Amino acid sequence: MVGNEILRVLAQRKFRSERIIALASERSKGLMVAYNGSSIKVEPLDEKAFKGIDIALFAASSDIGLMYGPIAAEAGALVIDNSSAWRMKENVPLVVPEVNSDDIRANEGIIANPNCCTIPLTVILNPLKNAVGLERVLVSTYQSASGAGRALVDELEDQTKAIAAGTEPQAVAYPYQLAYNVVPGGWRPEAEGYNEEEVKIVNETRKILHMPDLRITATCVRVPVPVGHGESVFLETTDKITAYEARTLFGTAPGVIVEDDPHAKLYPTPHNVAGKDEVYVGRIRNDASTKNGLALWLVSDNLRKGAALNAVQIAERAVEMGVITAGATRHRASDGQT
Ligand SMILES: NC(=O)c1ccc[n+]([C@@H]2O[C@H](COP(=O)([O-])OP(=O)(O)OC[C@H]3O[C@@H](n4cnc5c(N)ncnc54)[C@H](OP(=O)(O)O)[C@@H]3O)[C@@H](O)[C@H]2O)c1
Repeated sequence: MVGNEILRVLAQRKFRSERIIALASERSKGLMVAYNGSSIKVEPLDEKAFKGIDIALFAASSDIGLMYGPIAAEAGALVIDNSSAWRMKENVPLVVPEVNSDDIRANEGIIANPNCCTIPLTVILNPLKNAVGLERVLVSTYQSASGAGRALVDELEDQTKAIAAGTEPQAVAYPYQLAYNVVPGGWRPEAEGYNEEEVKIVNETRKILHMPDLRITATCVRVPVPVGHGESVFLETTDKITAYEARTLFGTAPGVIVEDDPHAKLYPTPHNVAGKDEVYVGRIRNDASTKNGLALWLVSDNLRKGAALNAVQIAERAVEMGVITAGATRHRASDGQT
């Protein structure tokens, strides 16, 4: 899902390239994937696949990222990995371009793309951090099926059809039936009753915002929506900010669109945000239950800003910053120059 979206985003943003190759497993060898009105034949991933490649956008599992990331970097490519394999490693920048693009410079060949809930959350938290300081964050997620890959999207559709036809829906890709349901789990359990996804949001948010001691906790829930993650966020700031001031602040924040007028029934929904690039924020309220509290609701397309778009934006920034010079790796690979 993310790989196809990366190809779409590259074409839509007219990313300058001499050559684009698509890699997947042996299973997909010879398959054609769409790119810029044409198609590319999928090649199997192997150790020689990265020769002459400047940028390697990975969208496979953590195992593949761990195994092939260093091979691609060694071959001279800047690796931007969508999996969680490298995100918390000390020498690997974890980047959301609107928030910490300067961290790109510290890369040693691999840059990690954050979790699909962490990215929009930090896009919203960063302007607040800069304007009034951030003390505490409580987030509950409403995550779509596509966040778990192609298999769960297909299963949600099959289950919905089965229920409509009066037959028994099958649950294979996820521990519970997702159609007509919400599931507060499905991720690997971690310590203290949390799960892997919740721990990722906490740790990655602290790393991206450069706030290692930020008080933050998360509850992750899967909902029967194909694309688009929602997040309900309660936060406490150091200095007071009113809901009105927060709306104005988000109105000028990079990558953010404010949709916030309950009287006009205006608030972001996954259905409307799917396919869009920005993080949408609404339902902004002062939380009277605590000092300097703010409540809000955000939605972003998990396949775009939550994955593919953010990865391509990192590549664009790396090119702008001179971290990648097009063709540099070809020289390295063929002439032995660095
Ligand atoms: N979906 C999201 O919203 C989202 C958001 C942020 C990050 N991510 C992360 O992005 C990565 C991809 O997620 P996805 O949702 O796109 O999953 P997906 O739809 O299941 O796609 C997985 C891709 O990995 C390839 N792959 C599997 N085994 C391989 C192997 N041995 N060698 C080479 N390629 C192999 C698959 O190719 P075949 O089809 O040939 O098996 C497929 O192209 C994951 O690490 C995920 O955690 C996903």
